[in-house]
Amino acid sequence: MYQLNVPLKNDAHTIFIEQGISQKLTSLLNENKDYSHIFIITQQSILDHVDTSFLSDFPIIIIGEKETSKSIKSAESVVQQLIASGCDRDSLLVGFGGGTVTDLVGFVSSIFMRGINHVFVPTTLLGMVDSAIGGKTAVNSSSARNVIGTFKQPKAIYIDPLFLTTLPSREIIDGFAEIIKYGLIVDCDLYNMIESDFQTLIDLKDLSQIESIIQTCCQHKVNFVIADELDQNQRMMLNFGHTLGHALESYFNYKTITHGQAVYYGMLGATFISKKYNFLSDDAFNRIHAFISTIPKLNFNNIDCNKVFECIKYDKKKTKNKFNFIVLTDIGKADIFYKITSDDFKEAINYIANYEYSCN
Ligand SMILES: NC(=O)c1ccc[n+]([C@@H]2O[C@H](COP(=O)([O-])OP(=O)(O)OC[C@H]3O[C@@H](n4cnc5c(N)ncnc54)[C@H](O)[C@@H]3O)[C@@H](O)[C@H]2O)c1
Repeated sequence: MYQLNVPLKNDAHTIFIEQGISQKLTSLLNENKDYSHIFIITQQSILDHVDTSFLSDFPIIIIGEKETSKSIKSAESVVQQLIASGCDRDSLLVGFGGGTVTDLVGFVSSIFMRGINHVFVPTTLLGMVDSAIGGKTAVNSSSARNVIGTFKQPKAIYIDPLFLTTLPSREIIDGFAEIIKYGLIVDCDLYNMIESDFQTLIDLKDLSQIESIIQTCCQHKVNFVIADELDQNQRMMLNFGHTLGHALESYFNYKTITHGQAVYYGMLGATFISKKYNFLSDDAFNRIHAFISTIPKLNFNNIDCNKVFECIKYDKKKTKNKFNFIVLTDIGKADIFYKITSDDFKEAINYIANYEYSCN
């Protein structure tokens, strides 16, 4: 079993990765601590698709399917169910699902009785390489996403790549947006491998290769979290592609476009700005664009570029009216650019809006 230590000063924990690890979950959960209760929090569609016989020992709390279930209302509903089931400060919450589940469970665990322990068992690719790691918890307000949240590290993360086999292929392709992001910002070898093997990878033809990619990505994310747990400087590199991506998601009211697709477009826009300022060579720019243009995405014509730009103005990553925009300086190298202008954003949005044509 692959084990990755996350040596945070106050919240050291381990990420365990192995195909089939979920079958050992009961003994792993009881290994280090005698919890008074263990509660599984998940979604019905996960129970419908995944073999969950290993969960039979534990009470299960089900939350809603959609992003709207990441809300204060759902958090309160989970809290009520925990109280009714006798949850106390020595209990453990297990977030079993993708980022929607783990963001909510992390949040509940940080507020219930001023904080109880939780672990994650991510079931989506995005969850395995990104959202389960790093301690950011969140629920949405009625007017903005992820604006209510805390930092709370899990006690452990158990990653079973076998769960990916029931995940819809769109979710796999979306998860790869974050993997490609790691390649672009810190790991040229990873990028080269994904670029040359993309179809085999998204078809999950070789789960061991995927498992090894998950290990690599977890290590990258952990490195950023160790360096900057509270997201004040280096961790911001992980926002590569996300400023423009979030603006697109907001423009489409978080409906028509998925997060992964928005990040693919966001990375195209950020690569465009990187080239505009000569941080990135023409060759690297052309290579990235040629690859990302082959990845299936929503094709949008006639988006209102001004409205997308308006969405950027409300990005929560903005501080003191200044953007910490992430640019590429090479494939596998990134930097923070503080001087991005409104015109840069407008040009990048325009580029994204027309890129199908510019690639042909
Ligand atoms: N905390 C962080 O650092 C962080 C980072 C990135 C994203 N996020 C958050 O993550 C969320 C998105 O997470 P996601 O992409 O994992 O999607 P998701 O959790 O919404 O899951 C997508 C769908 O797949 C289903 N599903 C999950 N696992 C399955 C499986 N193994 N087989 C079949 N179906 C399965 C789910 O029920 C759901 O319907 C967003 O809310 C985003 O804000 C958080």
